[in-house]
Amino acid sequence: MSVSIRRLSAACGAEVMGIDVRQSPEETTVAQIRHALGEHGVLLFRDCDIDPEQHIAFSRHFGPLEAHVIGDFALPGHPEVFVVSNVIEGDRPKGAVYAGQYWHSDLSYMKRPSLGSLLLCREMPEVGGDTMFANMYAAYETLSDPLKKFVSSMKAVHDYSHAYDTYFSGLKERPPLTPEQKAKTPPVEHPMVRTHPVTERRALYVNPGFTTHIADMPDEESRPILNILFRHSTRPEFVYRHKWRVHDLIFWDNRCTMHYALADYDFSVRRHMHRTTIGGDEPY
Ligand code: OGA
Ligand code: MN
Repeated sequence: MSVSIRRLSAACGAEVMGIDVRQSPEETTVAQIRHALGEHGVLLFRDCDIDPEQHIAFSRHFGPLEAHVIGDFALPGHPEVFVVSNVIEGDRPKGAVYAGQYWHSDLSYMKRPSLGSLLLCREMPEVGGDTMFANMYAAYETLSDPLKKFVSSMKAVHDYSHAYDTYFSGLKERPPLTPEQKAKTPPVEHPMVRTHPVTERRALYVNPGFTTHIADMPDEESRPILNILFRHSTRPEFVYRHKWRVHDLIFWDNRCTMHYALADYDFSVRRHMHRTTIGGDEPY
C-alpha cells in the first residue's frame, strides 16, 4: 500500500495514510515519515488499535526512547511508556494528571530535549480534551526583522521546576519535584531559535511551560519579551487543534512545534493516553 499525506490545517499537521503501524516499516517509509514530521510538525495516524509493545516497536524506528524523570508515571513493566491520565485507581492516579495543560515542547528542560513524542489515545471524553499544536517555524518567520535578529543572537533558560512553580502549584497530584528529581533536571540554556536538522528551517524555541528567562537579562526585560513571543507563537493562524478519536496516534515534532492539552472536560470522565518519547539532539 502506498503512503499518502493529507494536510490537517493551514497551520501545521498532516494525516498519514497507508501505513500499518503494527508492521515494521521499510527504511524508505521511515525516511518518508521523518521528512513529513519535519515538514508538517504533527503527524496523525488513525485507527491504531495497538498494545504497548507495538507502540514501543513503531516508535523505536525514529530514535532511542526516553524514560521520564518521574518514574511514577510510567506504565508498569514498560518504562518507555509515559501515561497521561486523569483516571484514579484506589487513591493513586494511573499517570500524569494535568500534564501539558500549558504551551510547551516536551523535555525542553533537558540538555538534549526530545525529538518528538508519539501519543496514543486510549480513552477520551465525548467532548473536550483536544490538544493544540503551534507551528514554531511560522512563529519565527513572521517576527519583524529586528526581533528575528535579537532572538537569533540569544539563549534562554529552561527549567522543569518552572511548570511546578506555576501551573502545578497547589495541586496535590503534582507535588513539587523531589531533590533527586531536581538534581536530574538542572536548568539548561538553549538557543532561542533552533535549526531543524531535517528541514534546516529555523524555529522559535521558547515555551511558557519551561522557559524561565532569557539568558543574561534581568527578568524585568526578559519577561515582557517572552510574553510577546508566547502570544505571537500561539496566534490562531499558527495553531492546529486536534479532536481525538480513540486509537488516534499522533507523532509530533518537539523541535518545531509546541503543544497544549485543553482541560475543558468533565474530570470525572476518563481521558487516558500513552506516550512514547524519542530522544533528540542538542539544539543549535
Ligand atoms: C504530553 C502532553 C498532551 C495531551 O503527553 O506530552 O503534553 O493532550 N499531552 O494529553
Ligand atoms: Mn507534552
